[in-house]
Amino acid sequence: MPAPFAPYPLSRPRRLRRTPWMRNLVQETTLSVSDLIWPLFVREGQNELEPVASMPGVARRSVDLIPDAAAEAAALGIPVIALFPYTEPARKSPGCEEAWNPENLVNQATRAVRAAGIEIGIMLDVALDPYNSLGHDGIVRDGVVLNDESLIGLEKQALAHAEAGADILGPSDMMDGRIAHLRRALEREGYQDTAIMSYAAKYASAFYGPFRDAVGASGALVGDKKTYQMDPANSDEALREVAQDIAEGADMVMVKPGMPYLDICTRVKRELGAPTYAYQVSGEYAMIQAAAQNGWIDGDKAMMESLAGFKRAGCDGILSYFSLDVAKRLKAG
Ligand code: PBG
Repeated sequence: MPAPFAPYPLSRPRRLRRTPWMRNLVQETTLSVSDLIWPLFVREGQNELEPVASMPGVARRSVDLIPDAAAEAAALGIPVIALFPYTEPARKSPGCEEAWNPENLVNQATRAVRAAGIEIGIMLDVALDPYNSLGHDGIVRDGVVLNDESLIGLEKQALAHAEAGADILGPSDMMDGRIAHLRRALEREGYQDTAIMSYAAKYASAFYGPFRDAVGASGALVGDKKTYQMDPANSDEALREVAQDIAEGADMVMVKPGMPYLDICTRVKRELGAPTYAYQVSGEYAMIQAAAQNGWIDGDKAMMESLAGFKRAGCDGILSYFSLDVAKRLKAG
């Protein structure tokens, strides 16, 4: 018996949502383990696994525990880990010298993963903030974050990281001209194969709060980062930043933060066509975890949905604190 109302819809989109197999058949984008970059925080000491209060599920690991974490990621098929240091205040200075110390935490951790023979990419951030007693990504003088002077420090840091064995450098400092400067230095010193994933469109965001906590930079930061990180209101400017970084030699580009900036991800991918990644930052992670802990959302589902959104927006991959959990979920099917 036909339904008593007419005319019947000629198009019924629900036909394609009726069963799991049909939904799979018509699915437009897929999240895969090979899309993931997993960040790890490194601290001093031996056998230390110290939870980060503002990032439930995330810990700072001492160097000796990093190879095991890397091996777990590699076994799940995660292609890259990103290492960030929690630098003791005594090692910070206005000159940021610890950034190019061959024995700094991320250099040690990189060599430890290499020595363990683990097949996984290692990405290291290039920015001075974890080492700066003033908390800024560049060198500060008279309250101003100096551009060209900072490039000199960033170059030393990049070369020390390349020497330690980093496969990918992630300049996240937003100084002008840094990509060209670093690329030239890497070529000159024989690091032709060290890739650059530029944090090309990086916004002055409130969502970095828990990260600054995790690396111990929140107390240190004097002022804000608005003279180098971008205004959240801008979109064309992001395109100019990314285009410039590609012209200067970036192999891959990053948009950061992630979820509030999916429109930027889409524009960058569509208009410039470079390998494009999003950084689902600490505050985004913390929001989902906090709501889940309160029982206000289903944390697992929200995690998977948030990462699917990056693929739908056009990203080639995502740097996310959820990466290990996502990889496990994907493996479980
Ligand atoms: C530092 C850096 C930051 C993040 C990654 N690299 C913080 C900042 O710019 O203040 C933030 C990552 C996150 O919030 O997860 N240059």
